[in-house]
Amino acid sequence: MKRTSNILIAAALTGGSFLAACSKDHRKPGKHYVPDMVDSRAYEFYNKTVANMKPVEGTVKRGEILPYTLRAEDTAQANLVKNPLTLNATDLEEGKRLFNIYCAVCHGSKLDGNGPLYKDGNGPYPAAPPSFIAGKLTGYSEGRIFHVATYGYNVMGSYASQLDREQRWKVAAYIKSVQNGGAAPAAAAPAADSTAAATPAAEAAPAAPAVTK
Ligand code: HEC
Repeated sequence: MKRTSNILIAAALTGGSFLAACSKDHRKPGKHYVPDMVDSRAYEFYNKTVANMKPVEGTVKRGEILPYTLRAEDTAQANLVKNPLTLNATDLEEGKRLFNIYCAVCHGSKLDGNGPLYKDGNGPYPAAPPSFIAGKLTGYSEGRIFHVATYGYNVMGSYASQLDREQRWKVAAYIKSVQNGGAAPAAAAPAADSTAAATPAAEAAPAAPAVTK
């Protein structure tokens, strides 16, 4: 008996609060139960303080490799920069995938400089892309290939906005592995990462722009 009356009281209270939530005035929302769950808090996309911000200068995202500080004209140092990553076969596969997306249209999926955009001079792209498997590019170091992918070279544009640093190193390592007949990439020398090689340049030219590519 006591239980039934408890249930009745609870029902009356709940019903009452539901009724109290109603309002004849349709312009008023009435009472909300847990309003913060009913109405989401307005979020300003594209406001200047929360969204669309660039990372704070001089900071590096967690897990990201250190910024590349050489400038476009520092090609001599670029030749010496070692790949800071230790890559395995899966990474090389990824390098190949990225190469075929971003570079093969010009340089050819066989790396012979005859991609579909050039097609022996019959394609829409007028400048002949060099081969990676013959001529001077066979002597290019991974660092130099990374450098070209970062800054571009003459008519070839930069790929720094399409490929992040890690991806560009994977592409460079893939190109190098094809040149070495599919051999696994050389293990990265522990101390010789991009910053190690970049330090002398930064000291020699303190006014170097703080662009991180
Ligand atoms: C739109 C066509 C095109 C694409 C795509 C392209 N390249 Fe090139 N690349 C060229 C041309 C053309 C040259 C020759 C530029 C010159 O010698 O003036 C070149 C030259 C190069 C060189 C040699 C630069 C030197 O010092 O002589 C390297 C290395 C290179 N490309 C790497 C890449 C990589 C890596 C990618 C992909 C991330 C890529 N390229 C994508 C057209 C392209």
